Formats: sequence, C-alpha cells, structure tokens
Amino acid sequence: MTIFYTQNNLKTFVEAQKSEGKTIGFVPTMGALHEGHLSLVRNAMTSNDIVFVSVFVNPTQFDNATDLEKYPRTLDADVELLKTLGKNIFVYAPSVADIYNSDVNAEKFSFDGLEFEMEGKFRKGHFDGVGTIVKRLFEIITPHNAYFGEKDFQQLMIIKKLASKYKLPVNVIGCEIYREPSGLAMSSRNQRLSENARKESAFIYKTLLEAKKKFGTKSAMQVKEWVQKQFNKHPLLTLEYVEIANIKNLKTVKRKSKNQTYRIFIAAFIENIRLIDNIALN
Ligand code: PAJ
Repeated sequence: MTIFYTQNNLKTFVEAQKSEGKTIGFVPTMGALHEGHLSLVRNAMTSNDIVFVSVFVNPTQFDNATDLEKYPRTLDADVELLKTLGKNIFVYAPSVADIYNSDVNAEKFSFDGLEFEMEGKFRKGHFDGVGTIVKRLFEIITPHNAYFGEKDFQQLMIIKKLASKYKLPVNVIGCEIYREPSGLAMSSRNQRLSENARKESAFIYKTLLEAKKKFGTKSAMQVKEWVQKQFNKHPLLTLEYVEIANIKNLKTVKRKSKNQTYRIFIAAFIENIRLIDNIALN
C-alpha cells in the first residue's frame, strides 16, 4: 500500500490518475481506525476508482491539550487494516509541517450559525480547526467524492456548508453510524474505555432509542428532560448536553412541525472520556 507523507508527491500522483480519467474518493480521518472508518472507506470504494484515506491528528481542532496528546496514533495498524479492504486505497499521512508550515493555527470561518450549536458551544474553535484541515485536504487531494460519518452529524453539515460556500468541486456524502453489537457508536475514543465503561456506554444509544419513541407523543422539551433524568440516575455517565434539532440549521426544536426533519444529539462523559451520538427522530 502506498503511503504519501508529503503533499507534493501526492499531488503529482493525483494529477496522473486524473489524466487517466480515474475518479477519486476521499475519507479524511484522524487514524486509530475502526470498523466505523472502514465502513466509510467501503462506501467510497463502491463508487470511485481509487480512494484516499488521510490519517492526521489535526492539532487546530483540539480545544484540550491533554485530549490532543492522548489521541491514539497507530499508523502501522491503520495501514494493515486498510490493506484488508483492497488494492486501490492510498494513504496520506502528513506531518503537521506539511499541512501548516510553521503557522499551526486555524482559519476563521462562518458556517451560517451551524458552528454555534451543540459541539460549537462546548468545544470552542473546534469547527474552525475542522474547516481549516478539511479545506486544505480537499485542495491537496482534489477528490470527486468525500465521505463523512453521521456519527459527527454537525461536522457533516458544516463540511457540506464549507463545500457550498467555497464552491469546492466535491460531493460531500454522509454515511450511517456504525455501531458495536451493544449499540455503542464506534469511536477511536472507545479504546480508552475500561471494559465496564464500554459496556455501560451502550446506555447512550439505548436512551436515544427510547427518546425516539417518546418523541412521537411528547414535546422536544419533555423528551430532553426525560433524557436528562435518565442520565442523572446513571452511576458512571455524565450528560454534557442533549439536544433535539432541526437538521437544516441544527437549531433547537421549539415546536414540532410535520414537514421538518429532526435528530436527537447527546454528548456525555464516562471515565473523563467524551462520547457523542445521535439518531434520526423522524
Ligand atoms: P475521525 O474522528 O477520525 O473520524 C473520521 C470520519 O469517520 C468522520 O467522518 C467520522 O464521522 C467518521 N466516523 C467515526 N466513527 C464513525 C462511526 N461509528 N460510524 C460512521 N462513521 C464514523 O472526524 C474526524 O476524524 C476529523 O474531524 C476530520 C474530519 C478527519 C478532520 O480532522
């Protein structure tokens, strides 16, 4: 499997591939790959001639130095996993300098308010960091199609906004959340959970499913209060937020309307590890 460590080498290769008429799919990641990431790569492989996977722990999207430091870095294992999927996969694993030179700072973006909801309230500057890296990666790899998980639904919507605002010639495609058999959404952070915490974290998805049932007959506010109560009773999980939002603008639902689409979002801590999840409500 070819691994590109610098954008110059990669760009030459991409130009050659494009001149042969090949379509390029792209899956950006921060590594520590798991089945959730692989489901995106499989999706990309079905509709592109070649697929790039970037593996880069992007410093400018972390608001917490410890989280950045502790983020798992497992490039060799990641490459081994990708090899099992097929031949036409290429890895871009740049250094911080290859992406940022000496200026390791995020650009400032406006995503028309999407960036101020949910994750934006609790992770200051996070989406500027995500916007900066994804825009740069799109410019380097110039993919036809790029794949993002609904696991980070707000990120997916923000990347769609980024592509449309900057008229980036790429289709941004959302992919379903891949879950462990217990229902826990797969995440690189799950590796840091103790066995017991991992088991207990299935509570997040279970609660989302029950909330979905309740949303049929109760108001958004009632459902959120119910979720809050369930977490208050849980011995290990601490809820950071529960939100029910319209998927168009990610704003809190005040009053349900039949022709709108809603999702419920949760962020919670267990053993100091932050987990997020969400599901469609209608
Ligand atoms: P990372 O957390 O590594 O996730 C890479 C991609 O995998 C994201 O699009 C994420 O939504 C998706 N993903 C993660 N877990 C998933 C699951 N269980 N099911 C489906 N998709 C899943 O998200 C990032 O990295 C970064 O912010 C990045 C976009 C790479 C920019 O640095």
